Amino acid sequence: MVTDKIQKKIDRLRQQLWHHSHLYYVLDDPEISDSEYDRLYRELQKLEQDHPELVTHDSPTQRIGAKPLDSFSQVQHRIPMLSLDNVFSEDELQAFYKRIQDRLNSTDTVEFAVEPKLDGLAISIVYENGELVQAATRGDGEIGEDVTQNIRTVQSVPLRLMGEDYPDVLEIRGEVFMPKAGFDELNRQAREKGEKTFVNPRNAAAGSLRQLDPEITAQRPLAMYCYSAGIVEGYDLPETHSEILQQIKRWGFPVCGESKVVEGISGCVAFYNDILQRRDQLAYDIDGVVYKVNRLSLQNELGFVARAPRWAIAHKFPAQEEVTKILDVDFQVGRTGALTPVARLKPVFVGGVTVSNATLHNMDEVRRKDIHIGDQVIVRRAGDVIPEVARVVNSARGKDVKPIALPDKCPVCQSDVEQTEGEAVARCSGGLFCKAQRTEAIKHYASRKAMDIDGLGDKLVEQLVEAGLIDTVADLYQLDIDAVAALKRMGDKSAHNLIEAIAVSRQPTLAKFIYALGIREVGETTASSLADAFGSLDALAEASEERLQEVPDVGPVVAQHVVHFFSEQHNLDVIKQLLDSGINFKQQAVASALNEQLKGRTFVITGTLHSMTRDQAKAKLLAAGAKVTGSVSAKTDYLLAGEKAGSKLSKAEKLGVKVIDEQQLDELLS
Ligand code: IVH
Repeated sequence: MVTDKIQKKIDRLRQQLWHHSHLYYVLDDPEISDSEYDRLYRELQKLEQDHPELVTHDSPTQRIGAKPLDSFSQVQHRIPMLSLDNVFSEDELQAFYKRIQDRLNSTDTVEFAVEPKLDGLAISIVYENGELVQAATRGDGEIGEDVTQNIRTVQSVPLRLMGEDYPDVLEIRGEVFMPKAGFDELNRQAREKGEKTFVNPRNAAAGSLRQLDPEITAQRPLAMYCYSAGIVEGYDLPETHSEILQQIKRWGFPVCGESKVVEGISGCVAFYNDILQRRDQLAYDIDGVVYKVNRLSLQNELGFVARAPRWAIAHKFPAQEEVTKILDVDFQVGRTGALTPVARLKPVFVGGVTVSNATLHNMDEVRRKDIHIGDQVIVRRAGDVIPEVARVVNSARGKDVKPIALPDKCPVCQSDVEQTEGEAVARCSGGLFCKAQRTEAIKHYASRKAMDIDGLGDKLVEQLVEAGLIDTVADLYQLDIDAVAALKRMGDKSAHNLIEAIAVSRQPTLAKFIYALGIREVGETTASSLADAFGSLDALAEASEERLQEVPDVGPVVAQHVVHFFSEQHNLDVIKQLLDSGINFKQQAVASALNEQLKGRTFVITGTLHSMTRDQAKAKLLAAGAKVTGSVSAKTDYLLAGEKAGSKLSKAEKLGVKVIDEQQLDELLS
């Protein structure tokens, strides 16, 4: 017999679970631990198993579990789902604004609700008496597909509206998308299992939502942001779009946190520039921003043209993907001899610049993406990332395409190319005999995190090698000022400055010097650990693989590379020349200056710092004998947290790691 008590208990558990899943999935601000949530969930599940007659459709236990469909049924949208017109420039935006003012017969500044244009797919979700009853894709705007059981598995979509005061019938519209991190993880898993990967988050979101089996959709990391209401019965909505979004939020829906209200065209442009600049840092893909006249009375006055409203416009960002042709493929040789295939492209404007080369990473990638010379390909350039070939346009493959072959001789020095079993990367075996490897080694030596030789950038290194003025890093200290001055674009002053900067770099810390040597797999942090552990270059050079592996961060591979490096006579020769030319570590000074409080302590840096960059903070800490790692764990001693510190800060607090700010860091350092 069902007692009132059980019904009450079930109601309470559902309320609690709705509340906590809203905090977790929508507001990203949980109040209870995952295990506490699971406990409540299991308690409800058990009660429902014992009393199946009390299961309701909106119960938190009922998201997943519907049976696979044979096909999707069709849904007629009662209010058509419109699309947006686009503008691509400020001029076109001005024209849009002028059309609005003309139609409204007013020169008053217009207020806009502005939002990112999410790159996913539009969805309509209908609630009756507060309960989710139907979800449909946009389809052709008139008729879409019924994806109700799939939408129910999207955790941030409420199965029941929050609060007491809501319309009898409410249609919410928004965009379903896949956050970038979830997309990367999904593709990583697919690759691991040898399955096909998705080309971009939008395709992944669309593919995931259009699954006949909701179990599959449930496993995909889908999210949603709501951007408007459709049908509303039995409720008076507020009078502006921005207030409607606030109301939608109160009913428990996720709304994009970047949405805001701005004045006139200057407000729109400022929003566009701000979001464009932060585009790559956002957790989801966007392809522009949307401006919507905020006041509904004005929207009504403006009305629609064909299939788009006159009161809204999408201001698109430069495309990050474009189609072009691979004209040829060259192989570039890196510092460690790694051969990187680089596609020479028919120049194409993408991501705001003209691109004529794109990396193909390595031969495994070439095979995986099945890339040929002559293929039409999609080139992608996101932010400052090096342009890459995302995929081949398969339908466009001509008969005259040629396979890409790994050369068996280095294209620069003609030494043999070798590929170790199990490694994706092929390497030139020429070592420092190879001009490309020498040049890259010198660039690395001079770089900011290594010897930090002011003014000695990549181009100048290439010029010096090309002119035969330097062969190894040791030659830098023997440079003839007149010969440098005679180089193109140099002159006396620049030559003098360069020689001066090289001279200043004669006093590195031991850690920087070890890093600058460019031993394979020895990054900044490892170099610093090695310097701490051995205290001198001689001791490091004599260390055995076993002894090396006792050093933090050093595993068998790194140990092997270090031993190998110091076993090569040409490396020892260069080091001797460097020392003879006056390289003199600050090691004595550093060793005694090592701050006892910081020595050996592990730091993590997060958030935005103000008095220094994160790299500078890291350098200071390393110089003081501390270690800097990327993620917070129980082994972390301090978290240096700047502004907008996110998950690392919460993790540190959870683990009881000491959190300090910049000022406290300075105190520790002094
Ligand atoms: S409003 C009548 N707002 O863009 C207005 N749409 O090109 C209809 N989209 O089908 C849509 N982000 O899938 C609106 N913040 C946003 C949007 C957005 C993405 C998509 C939506 C729509 C398409 C129109």
